[in-house]
Amino acid sequence: MKNISNIALFSFFFIALLDSVSWAQSSSNSSSHQSFIQCLENYSSPPSNPISAVLYTPDNSSYSSVLQAYIRNLRFNESTTPKPQLIITALHVSHIQAAIVCAKLHGVQMKIRSGGHDYEGVSYVSNVPDFFILDMFNFRAINVSIEDESAWVEVGAILGEVYYRIAERSNTHGFPAGVCPSVGVGGYISGGGYGNMMRKYGLSVDNIIDAQIIDVNGRILNRKSMGEDLFWAITGGGGASYGVVLSYKIKLVRVPNIVTVFRVARRYNENFTDLVYKYQLIADKLPEELFIRLNLNVVNNTNRATFVALFLGNSQELISLMNKNFPELALNQTDCEQMSWVESVLYWTNLPIGTVSALLNRAPPTLTYLKRKSDYLKKPIPKEGLDSIFKKMVELQFPILVFNPYGGKMAEIPSSEKPFPHRAGNIAKLQYATNWNENGAEAANHYLNLTRTLFDYMTPFVSMNPREAFLNYRDLDIGINHNGRNSYLEGAVYGVKYFKENFNRLVKIKTKVDPHNFFRNEQSIPVLPWRK
Ligand SMILES: Cc1cc2nc3c(=O)[nH]c(=O)nc-3n(C[C@H](O)[C@H](O)[C@H](O)COP(=O)(O)OP(=O)(O)OC[C@H]3O[C@@H](n4cnc5c(N)ncnc54)[C@H](O)[C@@H]3O)c2cc1C
Ligand SMILES: *[C@@H]1O[C@H](CO)[C@@H](O)[C@H](O)[C@H]1NC(C)=O
Ligand SMILES: *[C@@H]1O[C@H](CO)[C@@H](O)[C@H](O)[C@H]1NC(C)=O
Ligand SMILES: *[C@@H]1O[C@H](CO)[C@@H](O)[C@H](O)[C@H]1NC(C)=O
Ligand SMILES: *[C@@H]1O[C@H](CO)[C@@H](O)[C@H](O)[C@H]1NC(C)=O
Ligand SMILES: *[C@@H]1O[C@H](CO)[C@@H](O)[C@H](O)[C@H]1NC(C)=O
Ligand SMILES: *[C@@H]1O[C@H](CO)[C@@H](O)[C@H](O)[C@H]1NC(C)=O
Ligand SMILES: *[C@@H]1O[C@H](CO)[C@@H](O)[C@H](O)[C@H]1NC(C)=O
Ligand SMILES: *[C@@H]1O[C@H](CO)[C@@H](O)[C@H](O)[C@H]1NC(C)=O
Ligand SMILES: *[C@@H]1O[C@H](CO)[C@@H](O)[C@H](O)[C@H]1NC(C)=O
Repeated sequence: MKNISNIALFSFFFIALLDSVSWAQSSSNSSSHQSFIQCLENYSSPPSNPISAVLYTPDNSSYSSVLQAYIRNLRFNESTTPKPQLIITALHVSHIQAAIVCAKLHGVQMKIRSGGHDYEGVSYVSNVPDFFILDMFNFRAINVSIEDESAWVEVGAILGEVYYRIAERSNTHGFPAGVCPSVGVGGYISGGGYGNMMRKYGLSVDNIIDAQIIDVNGRILNRKSMGEDLFWAITGGGGASYGVVLSYKIKLVRVPNIVTVFRVARRYNENFTDLVYKYQLIADKLPEELFIRLNLNVVNNTNRATFVALFLGNSQELISLMNKNFPELALNQTDCEQMSWVESVLYWTNLPIGTVSALLNRAPPTLTYLKRKSDYLKKPIPKEGLDSIFKKMVELQFPILVFNPYGGKMAEIPSSEKPFPHRAGNIAKLQYATNWNENGAEAANHYLNLTRTLFDYMTPFVSMNPREAFLNYRDLDIGINHNGRNSYLEGAVYGVKYFKENFNRLVKIKTKVDPHNFFRNEQSIPVLPWRK
């Protein structure tokens, strides 16, 4: 039995290796570069939308500002960061179709960027020399229908714009999506986005009705014409493995006129361990209207726990719920603020209440250097474990450890419903968050090392076999598919962590819709190596 599987594995690897050759042959030269551009001009129609108006080569004076406009992590704004040979700021679907056809012909890798928030810069950086960016920020229309309780949202819209456009029309509708308003719809939804209403309504991808995508042959497809398999794949499996998503039709959800929020910090004291321990016992079991995030960090060499909540109800109800389920926090009425749902979005992202139009700002106020990692908490960390983690955190000072509680609706949705597999059985998703301001490789290595060190330290307390991860918290440490190649074996390493058993279905769909693996990146879904 063992021998057979070794032989199977060997020939499997061999075929995967052969597969890789065909993609390794393209090389950068200026005449191929010119013919790529020539091809784009030839294939883009109608003439009223010339593609030359949206092409930026390094020779164009605005190339750098266009490139930098949607870099959201300073780690990838360095002179050493690999740069695209071209940026296409598509204004018309024909620009996207031309980009696909010509990139295929010329063997150039396409990177698709909507909001640019990818934590590893996967939408605008590459480790192969021949790549270009298809920039989607011009596709940002949002059409809200309160009557239908839905909206069509183009991928270049940011979440803040979606919230703003909904709130403009209704104060009893919302959309369960992420906390940071500048995040782009394209990457966020295709990667399975979540936010502070997920215990009540699930992920954003649990609330998608339809989508439009341009496939590898340049065809524009909707849910009906793409079929349920591809629709499933692009609602959580990452869009960039399957095509260029143009828009999603989202289902709006009902929110009360008034919601309640709080943010309370507790310093290290004699009861600190009990407080954090108790949080793990109740956070996923509370009524699904209540979402309490826990941030653990270190201030002045002391551990601190900050609890941030959204409650879809009023403050009296919240206080009595808290007194019953989590009296250890000693929440006071004065800690609570009542407001409209859209104002709670401002509160959660630390914007002043009343500045709803600030949600339209496409760039965050400041940019920093970022590293993120993720984990899944399946059982409460024992008190001694917590104490050792607190000590380790003081020693390292970074990262912040963020607990996002699951349960509620998240535990009711079957794990095969969407590519995102982390449903029942999880107390919380953990995020390791390190932000820094010092430039240079030395600082980066220092902070990356601290983040990885805490991640290693957490090994005994979190999911294992696989050690699960969240696609939108992109982390190239957990495995990469070397770009020129199509390696199923490499893909399975990160694929199983992000998608568990759903990985197999993602691979089958990928093999069917993009058999030559045109849509590929460092962590894309590979095709089956034994295809003809
Ligand atoms: C400050 C900040 C806060 C965040 N908060 C949350 C949160 O609350 N909840 C959450 O779930 N996530 C959150 N994230 C993670 C975020 O969801 C992901 O980074 C997401 O991929 C960003 O989408 P984007 O369009 O801005 O990113 P991009 O960098 O443009 O794209 C990310 C990935 O999606 C692909 N892609 C983008 N557009 C398309 C398209 N049109 N078609 C096909 N593929 C496409 C890209 O090629 C890339 O692989 C946050 C990130 C940051 C930086
Ligand atoms: C450059 O690219 C062109 C067009 O793709 C090709 O014909 C030519 O052989 C390439 N030259 C080199 C030196 O690779
Ligand atoms: C573009 O079109 C012109 C004119 O039809 C043709 O001569 C040229 O070969 C085409 N180039 C490419 C790269 O398709
Ligand atoms: C960039 O430069 C090329 C060559 O000069 C030109 O054709 C193109 O229109 C320029 N792009 C923009 C957006 O101005
Ligand atoms: C990104 O890098 C460029 C070039 O060094 C620099 O001018 C720009 O200010 C940087 N962006 C940010 C937000 O720091
Ligand atoms: C939004 O509505 C406008 C005007 O009716 C239409 O042109 C556009 O295609 C719609 N966009 C989406 C994403 O549905
Ligand atoms: C710790 O908990 C006990 C019992 O609830 C309480 O009396 C004491 O004040 C708490 N200590 C701190 C520092 O909060
Ligand atoms: C940290 O300590 C310094 C110096 O004692 C003090 O000024 C500052 O307020 C402290 N910061 C916090 C957040 O407690
Ligand atoms: C709540 O806070 C107010 C104002 O700070 C204080 O007067 C009151 O005693 C607190 N109540 C409790 C139960 O701690
Ligand atoms: C962090 O750096 C130290 C010292 O160089 C090294 O020993 C350790 O292996 C690094 N840890 C990680 C997780 O990279």
